[in-house]
Amino acid sequence: MIKVTKLTRIFKTNSETVKALENISFTIKDGTFASIVGRSGSGKTTLLGLMGGLDKPTSGSISVGNKEITSMNDSKLIKYRSSKIGFVFQSYNLIPNLSALENVMLPLEFNKVESSQRQNLAKEALISVGLDENQIKRKPARLSGGQQQRVAIARAIVTKPKLVLADEPTGNLDSHTAKVIFKLLKDLAKSENTTIIVVTHDLEIAKNSDLTFKIEDGKFIKGGSNAKRS
Ligand SMILES: Nc1ncnc2c1ncn2[C@@H]1O[C@H](COP(=O)(O)OP(=O)(O)OP(=O)(O)O)[C@@H](O)[C@H]1O
Ligand SMILES: [Mg+2]
Repeated sequence: MIKVTKLTRIFKTNSETVKALENISFTIKDGTFASIVGRSGSGKTTLLGLMGGLDKPTSGSISVGNKEITSMNDSKLIKYRSSKIGFVFQSYNLIPNLSALENVMLPLEFNKVESSQRQNLAKEALISVGLDENQIKRKPARLSGGQQQRVAIARAIVTKPKLVLADEPTGNLDSHTAKVIFKLLKDLAKSENTTIIVVTHDLEIAKNSDLTFKIEDGKFIKGGSNAKRS
Protein backbone atom coordinates (compact mmCIF):
# COMPACT_ATOMS: atom_id res chain seq x y z
CA MET A 1 0.00 0.00 0.00
CA ILE A 2 1.06 3.57 -0.64
CA LYS A 3 0.24 6.04 2.07
CA VAL A 4 0.74 9.73 1.47
CA THR A 5 0.23 11.95 4.50
CA LYS A 6 -0.08 15.73 4.50
CA LEU A 7 2.35 16.11 1.66
CA THR A 8 3.51 19.63 0.88
CA ARG A 9 6.16 20.72 -1.60
CA ILE A 10 7.09 24.37 -1.80
CA PHE A 11 9.56 25.65 -4.38
CA LYS A 12 11.39 28.80 -3.44
CA THR A 13 13.23 30.86 -5.99
CA ASN A 14 14.71 34.33 -5.55
CA SER A 15 11.56 36.12 -6.56
CA GLU A 16 8.72 33.79 -5.70
CA THR A 17 7.39 30.92 -3.65
CA VAL A 18 5.34 28.25 -5.40
CA LYS A 19 3.21 25.84 -3.42
CA ALA A 20 3.32 22.99 -5.92
CA LEU A 21 1.56 20.59 -3.53
CA GLU A 22 -0.36 21.50 -0.43
CA ASN A 23 -1.36 19.12 2.33
CA ILE A 24 -2.18 16.12 0.16
CA SER A 25 -3.21 12.81 1.74
CA PHE A 26 -4.34 9.57 0.15
CA THR A 27 -3.81 5.82 0.16
CA ILE A 28 -3.60 3.42 -2.75
CA LYS A 29 -3.85 -0.35 -2.39
CA ASP A 30 -1.44 -2.70 -4.13
CA GLY A 31 -2.45 -3.68 -7.64
CA THR A 32 -4.41 -0.49 -8.26
CA PHE A 33 -4.32 1.24 -11.60
CA ALA A 34 -4.69 4.90 -10.63
CA SER A 35 -4.73 8.00 -12.77
CA ILE A 36 -3.95 11.59 -11.90
CA VAL A 37 -5.55 14.35 -13.93
CA GLY A 38 -5.27 18.11 -13.69
CA ARG A 39 -4.26 21.21 -15.61
CA SER A 40 -0.74 22.10 -16.59
CA GLY A 41 1.16 23.34 -13.55
CA SER A 42 -1.22 21.74 -11.04
CA GLY A 43 1.51 19.61 -9.41
CA LYS A 44 1.22 16.20 -11.10
CA THR A 45 4.87 15.74 -12.03
CA THR A 46 5.93 17.07 -8.64
CA LEU A 47 3.79 14.39 -6.98
CA LEU A 48 5.25 11.58 -9.11
CA GLY A 49 8.77 12.83 -8.40
CA LEU A 50 8.15 12.71 -4.67
CA MET A 51 6.62 9.23 -4.80
CA GLY A 52 9.53 7.99 -6.87
CA GLY A 53 12.10 9.39 -4.46
CA LEU A 54 13.49 11.83 -7.05
CA ASP A 55 12.63 14.80 -4.84
CA LYS A 56 12.00 15.49 -1.15
CA PRO A 57 8.87 17.06 0.29
CA THR A 58 8.86 20.29 2.28
CA SER A 59 6.73 18.47 4.83
CA GLY A 60 4.62 15.33 5.10
CA SER A 61 5.46 11.71 4.44
CA ILE A 62 5.16 8.93 1.89
CA SER A 63 5.23 5.23 2.73
CA VAL A 64 5.51 2.57 0.08
CA GLY A 65 4.88 -0.90 1.46
CA ASN A 66 6.37 -0.76 4.94
CA LYS A 67 9.07 1.75 4.01
CA GLU A 68 8.88 5.42 4.66
CA ILE A 69 10.75 6.85 1.72
CA THR A 70 10.67 10.44 2.91
CA SER A 71 13.07 9.63 5.74
CA MET A 72 15.53 7.57 3.70
CA ASN A 73 19.08 8.75 3.17
CA ASP A 74 20.42 9.12 -0.36
CA SER A 75 22.00 5.69 -0.68
CA LYS A 76 18.80 3.99 0.48
CA LEU A 77 16.79 6.13 -1.92
CA ILE A 78 18.97 5.11 -4.86
CA LYS A 79 18.39 1.48 -3.97
CA TYR A 80 14.65 2.07 -3.55
CA ARG A 81 14.42 3.76 -6.94
CA SER A 82 16.28 1.12 -8.85
CA SER A 83 14.65 -1.92 -7.25
CA LYS A 84 11.11 -0.90 -6.35
CA ILE A 85 10.12 1.74 -8.88
CA GLY A 86 9.65 1.81 -12.63
CA PHE A 87 9.51 5.20 -14.30
CA VAL A 88 7.97 5.92 -17.67
CA PHE A 89 8.59 9.44 -18.93
CA GLN A 90 6.67 11.27 -21.61
CA SER A 91 9.82 11.74 -23.64
CA TYR A 92 10.78 8.03 -23.29
CA ASN A 93 14.36 8.87 -22.19
CA LEU A 94 15.86 5.92 -24.05
CA ILE A 95 19.60 5.87 -24.62
CA PRO A 96 20.03 6.53 -28.35
CA ASN A 97 23.20 4.55 -28.99
CA LEU A 98 21.94 1.39 -27.32
CA SER A 99 19.52 -1.08 -28.92
CA ALA A 100 16.04 -1.55 -27.44
CA LEU A 101 17.28 -4.76 -25.84
CA GLU A 102 20.33 -3.08 -24.31
CA ASN A 103 18.19 -0.23 -22.99
CA VAL A 104 16.00 -2.72 -21.15
CA MET A 105 18.99 -4.67 -19.84
CA LEU A 106 20.39 -1.57 -18.09
CA PRO A 107 18.15 -1.58 -14.99
CA LEU A 108 18.99 -5.24 -14.48
CA GLU A 109 22.66 -4.34 -14.45
CA PHE A 110 21.98 -1.62 -11.86
CA ASN A 111 20.18 -4.21 -9.78
CA LYS A 112 23.12 -6.58 -10.06
CA VAL A 113 21.20 -9.30 -11.86
CA GLU A 114 23.67 -11.85 -13.21
CA SER A 115 24.82 -11.01 -16.70
CA SER A 116 23.79 -14.42 -18.04
CA GLN A 117 20.15 -13.70 -17.14
CA ARG A 118 19.90 -10.09 -18.23
CA GLN A 119 19.34 -10.70 -21.90
CA ASN A 120 16.56 -13.26 -21.40
CA LEU A 121 14.71 -11.16 -18.84
CA ALA A 122 14.94 -8.05 -21.04
CA LYS A 123 13.75 -10.01 -24.07
CA GLU A 124 10.83 -11.38 -22.09
CA ALA A 125 9.76 -7.88 -21.00
CA LEU A 126 10.04 -6.53 -24.56
CA ILE A 127 8.01 -9.39 -26.03
CA SER A 128 5.38 -8.94 -23.29
CA VAL A 129 4.79 -5.35 -24.45
CA GLY A 130 4.32 -6.51 -28.03
CA LEU A 131 7.67 -5.99 -29.74
CA ASP A 132 9.23 -8.67 -31.94
CA GLU A 133 12.68 -10.23 -32.20
CA ASN A 134 13.77 -7.88 -34.99
CA GLN A 135 12.48 -4.69 -33.44
CA ILE A 136 14.29 -5.26 -30.17
CA LYS A 137 17.66 -5.27 -31.93
CA ARG A 138 17.09 -1.76 -33.30
CA LYS A 139 18.20 1.51 -31.81
CA PRO A 140 15.40 3.86 -30.66
CA ALA A 141 15.68 6.16 -33.70
CA ARG A 142 14.69 3.24 -35.92
CA LEU A 143 11.49 2.55 -33.97
CA SER A 144 8.18 4.41 -34.15
CA GLY A 145 6.99 6.59 -31.24
CA GLY A 146 4.62 3.87 -30.04
CA GLN A 147 7.36 1.24 -30.25
CA GLN A 148 9.77 3.46 -28.31
CA GLN A 149 7.11 3.96 -25.69
CA ARG A 150 6.77 0.18 -25.38
CA VAL A 151 10.53 -0.08 -24.91
CA ALA A 152 10.29 2.54 -22.15
CA ILE A 153 7.54 0.51 -20.48
CA ALA A 154 9.54 -2.71 -20.81
CA ARG A 155 12.48 -0.93 -19.18
CA ALA A 156 10.22 0.24 -16.35
CA ILE A 157 8.79 -3.24 -15.65
CA VAL A 158 11.80 -5.48 -16.27
CA THR A 159 12.85 -5.44 -12.63
CA LYS A 160 9.28 -6.30 -11.58
CA PRO A 161 8.89 -3.16 -9.47
CA LYS A 162 6.14 -2.79 -6.89
CA LEU A 163 5.24 0.61 -8.24
CA VAL A 164 5.22 2.02 -11.76
CA LEU A 165 5.01 5.80 -12.15
CA ALA A 166 4.17 7.04 -15.62
CA ASP A 167 4.07 10.73 -16.55
CA GLU A 168 1.82 11.18 -19.59
CA PRO A 169 3.19 8.02 -21.16
CA THR A 170 0.93 8.27 -24.17
CA GLY A 171 0.99 12.03 -24.66
CA ASN A 172 2.67 11.75 -28.06
CA LEU A 173 0.72 8.78 -29.38
CA ASP A 174 -2.41 8.43 -31.46
CA SER A 175 -5.51 7.47 -29.53
CA HIS A 176 -5.54 3.84 -30.67
CA THR A 177 -1.90 3.23 -29.67
CA ALA A 178 -2.54 5.09 -26.43
CA LYS A 179 -5.37 2.68 -25.61
CA VAL A 180 -3.19 -0.34 -26.36
CA ILE A 181 -0.41 0.99 -24.11
CA PHE A 182 -2.86 1.68 -21.29
CA LYS A 183 -4.40 -1.75 -21.55
CA LEU A 184 -0.92 -3.16 -21.27
CA LEU A 185 -0.26 -1.20 -18.07
CA LYS A 186 -3.64 -2.13 -16.68
CA ASP A 187 -3.07 -5.84 -17.35
CA LEU A 188 0.28 -5.55 -15.61
CA ALA A 189 -1.40 -4.11 -12.53
CA LYS A 190 -3.64 -7.16 -12.39
CA SER A 191 -1.20 -9.92 -13.34
CA GLU A 192 1.73 -8.84 -11.14
CA ASN A 193 -0.23 -6.92 -8.50
CA THR A 194 1.84 -3.90 -9.45
CA THR A 195 0.55 -0.48 -8.46
CA ILE A 196 0.48 1.79 -11.48
CA ILE A 197 0.05 5.53 -11.23
CA VAL A 198 -0.39 7.38 -14.48
CA VAL A 199 -0.62 11.09 -15.19
CA THR A 200 -2.93 11.57 -18.14
CA HIS A 201 -4.93 14.21 -19.97
CA ASP A 202 -7.05 11.53 -21.56
CA LEU A 203 -10.33 11.49 -19.67
CA GLU A 204 -11.39 8.25 -21.33
CA ILE A 205 -8.35 6.54 -19.83
CA ALA A 206 -8.92 8.19 -16.46
CA LYS A 207 -12.48 6.92 -16.48
CA ASN A 208 -11.29 3.37 -17.04
CA SER A 209 -8.82 3.32 -14.17
CA ASP A 210 -9.54 1.86 -10.73
CA LEU A 211 -9.07 5.22 -9.12
CA THR A 212 -8.82 8.79 -10.39
CA PHE A 213 -7.36 11.75 -8.57
CA LYS A 214 -8.00 15.24 -9.75
CA ILE A 215 -5.49 17.82 -8.68
CA GLU A 216 -5.93 21.58 -8.89
CA ASP A 217 -3.31 24.12 -7.83
CA GLY A 218 -1.54 21.55 -5.71
CA LYS A 219 -4.65 20.32 -3.93
CA PHE A 220 -6.73 17.25 -4.46
CA ILE A 221 -10.20 18.36 -5.30
CA LYS A 222 -11.56 14.95 -6.06
CA GLY A 223 -10.43 11.44 -5.23
CA GLY A 224 -12.28 8.53 -6.80
CA SER A 225 -14.64 6.95 -4.28
CA ASN A 226 -13.71 3.63 -5.68
CA ALA A 227 -13.76 0.30 -3.86
CA LYS A 228 -9.99 0.02 -3.95
CA ARG A 229 -9.52 3.23 -2.04
CA SER A 230 -9.17 2.69 1.66
N1 LIG B 1 12.09 22.81 -9.63
C1 LIG B 1 11.11 23.72 -9.57
N2 LIG B 1 11.38 24.98 -9.15
C2 LIG B 1 10.41 25.91 -9.04
N3 LIG B 1 9.13 25.68 -9.35
C3 LIG B 1 8.79 24.45 -9.77
C4 LIG B 1 9.76 23.41 -9.92
N4 LIG B 1 9.13 22.28 -10.37
C5 LIG B 1 7.84 22.62 -10.50
N5 LIG B 1 7.61 23.91 -10.14
C6 LIG B 1 6.31 24.62 -10.11
O1 LIG B 1 5.40 23.80 -9.40
C7 LIG B 1 4.12 23.81 -10.01
C8 LIG B 1 3.72 22.37 -10.37
O2 LIG B 1 4.56 21.89 -11.40
P1 LIG B 1 4.41 20.43 -12.03
O3 LIG B 1 5.54 20.23 -12.96
O4 LIG B 1 4.26 19.45 -10.93
O5 LIG B 1 3.03 20.57 -12.83
P2 LIG B 1 2.29 19.50 -13.76
O6 LIG B 1 0.93 19.32 -13.20
O7 LIG B 1 3.13 18.30 -13.96
O8 LIG B 1 2.17 20.31 -15.15
P3 LIG B 1 2.21 19.74 -16.67
O9 LIG B 1 0.85 19.16 -16.96
O10 LIG B 1 2.44 21.00 -17.48
O11 LIG B 1 3.32 18.77 -16.81
C9 LIG B 1 4.24 24.73 -11.21
O12 LIG B 1 3.77 26.00 -10.83
C10 LIG B 1 5.72 24.77 -11.50
O13 LIG B 1 6.08 25.98 -12.09
MG1 LIG C 1 4.08 17.45 -15.62
